[in-house]
Amino acid sequence: MSITENSLILVLHVTLVLPLEGILLQNQDCTQCIAPLEHQVALLQQRLETLEQIANQQPVAFSAELSTSLAHPSAGMSIVFDKVQFNSGNFYNNKTGTFYCPTSGVYYFSLELSSSAHPQSGHSLHAKIMKNGSPISITILDSDSHLSYLRRTSSVTTQLAQGDVISVLINFVVGDITVTGGGPLSTFSGFLVQRIQ
Ligand SMILES: *[C@@H]1O[C@H](CO)[C@@H](O)[C@H](O)[C@H]1NC(C)=O
Repeated sequence: MSITENSLILVLHVTLVLPLEGILLQNQDCTQCIAPLEHQVALLQQRLETLEQIANQQPVAFSAELSTSLAHPSAGMSIVFDKVQFNSGNFYNNKTGTFYCPTSGVYYFSLELSSSAHPQSGHSLHAKIMKNGSPISITILDSDSHLSYLRRTSSVTTQLAQGDVISVLINFVVGDITVTGGGPLSTFSGFLVQRIQ
């Protein structure tokens, strides 16, 4: 049983059962007592409906990947993760690469970037998770040279207000580097942890 159910039962007991017990024990005329009890029942019904609405709200969550590799990226470019894996509520836009916050709350985002083998040295790429244009997290693909895949992740927990916008921006590039797509190699995902009323 959840905390909510327990507390509802406690409220029911205090507001309905105890007063009724008092009336019955004293063998009073009940006609005077019904109206306040009916009022309590109506209030409790309202609270229950609100709790049910909160419990039945659809999740806010998305995950998207790069369908094709991003060759010759440059600083100042946004990364658009175009292939949607999951998009509950449709708040991630796979044309612009942005997540639009539908409801105030605590959110979690994750950015994973891969780069295929680079035998030559001296290349790197930094990409940031941006909240309304300001960075809140950074994924750093730095390597002198590597003969197999490089895959780096950054993640962040943040509080958002309704209407806030989250996106991914490349802010630093050195050398010729490719962000690998065509599978779940480079992904952007996020979800609502808890609403704030
Ligand atoms: C992009 O989003 C649209 C609208 O939600 C969807 O219909 C389409 O399938 C998505 N495309 C990909 C490649 O995921």
